[in-house]
Amino acid sequence: MNSTRRRVGVVGFGRIAELAHIPAWLSIPSVEVVALADACPVRRAEALSAFPGARIYASCDEMLAEESLDVLDICTPPSDHAPSIVAGCTAGVPRIVCEKPLTSSQHEYRAIAAAQADSGSQVYTINSWFQSDLHRMVREALSEDAIGSVRHVRLRTLRPDCALGVPSWLPRWRTDPRYAGGGIVLDHGWHQLYLMANWIGAYPYSVSAHLDTALAKHAPVEDVATIDLKFPNATGRIELSWAAPSRTNDGEIIGEHGTIRIEDHGLIIRTARGEQSRPYGERLSDSSYHPEWFVALFSQILNDQSKAEGRRNLQEAEMLLTTLFQVYGHRPEHIQRTAEAALA
Ligand SMILES: NC(=O)c1ccc[n+]([C@@H]2O[C@H](COP(=O)([O-])OP(=O)(O)OC[C@H]3O[C@@H](n4cnc5c(N)ncnc54)[C@H](O)[C@@H]3O)[C@@H](O)[C@H]2O)c1
Repeated sequence: MNSTRRRVGVVGFGRIAELAHIPAWLSIPSVEVVALADACPVRRAEALSAFPGARIYASCDEMLAEESLDVLDICTPPSDHAPSIVAGCTAGVPRIVCEKPLTSSQHEYRAIAAAQADSGSQVYTINSWFQSDLHRMVREALSEDAIGSVRHVRLRTLRPDCALGVPSWLPRWRTDPRYAGGGIVLDHGWHQLYLMANWIGAYPYSVSAHLDTALAKHAPVEDVATIDLKFPNATGRIELSWAAPSRTNDGEIIGEHGTIRIEDHGLIIRTARGEQSRPYGERLSDSSYHPEWFVALFSQILNDQSKAEGRRNLQEAEMLLTTLFQVYGHRPEHIQRTAEAALA
């Protein structure tokens, strides 16, 4: 074992950990994954067989008690994010990376912010779509001043169902508010909102929304949502569905003197000079498990010596949570009631 390498411990050996995070950590030469923790015995056995060199634990607390980590990587469902982050801060782990959404309640966000302030730890939410071709190419087009200042962004994500977790734990946890905290708004709206705010260059100040449960299998959480946002000099709309006939992502960015049409396969930029098509490397709807996105993200986090990116990231998380909680304020009473009953 090379003691100069950064020691990473991963909690939650599910799909995102196995298919994206761990392959990404293993491809960074200065890093070793020394420990994995999972509450599910089947997943612990699978972790042991996939990574015989790593020590395996039944909980984050057990792992933190035994290991001296440089990075705690949290890949559990949202309900477990805050307790693991707070435990990581208390144990003095310097960098804590956590899958989105950072948490699913305001009091948990306050607990995270307080634990971080009292410790030397820095917390980073994994906002992986900042590493996508979509984001890179939109930023390029905006920096070329292709369409002028952004006035409106519309982003749409359509799926025939929610994503499923590993079969040996609770594959449909995304429809259980005890684990997910909400439905499609927290699951997909999180990504759309940070992209939108970054392209507009401001945070939203007003939110209205329409939420519903279109398919009974997704009750009690919402599976369709339309969210309208006001920014200081722009507006935004996020349209989400887990009840669509097929998978697709699209949208548009309307600027002062042009439009960027976001298609599933690439951007189409329309200005007075004509139309230009710029394809991405792969379709937006192909997959969310891109180890190469996570290599770039993790490298950025490991190199964040001044923790400036960490502070920016946590401030952004506060905006995302505040905005998405306001969206849930527009939850129809029948969804509110069934979600509360599920939590009781
Ligand atoms: N960035 C992205 O695009 C992206 C994509 C997929 C998932 N995610 C996020 O990653 C997280 C995990 O999603 P997933 O699809 O991998 O789920 P999953 O169900 O496949 O994996 C979750 C794992 O956590 C384990 N677990 C549950 N509670 C635990 C606890 N208290 N302690 C230890 N282990 C526990 C389960 O046994 C399971 O192995 C979620 O927050 C999800 O939103 C992000």
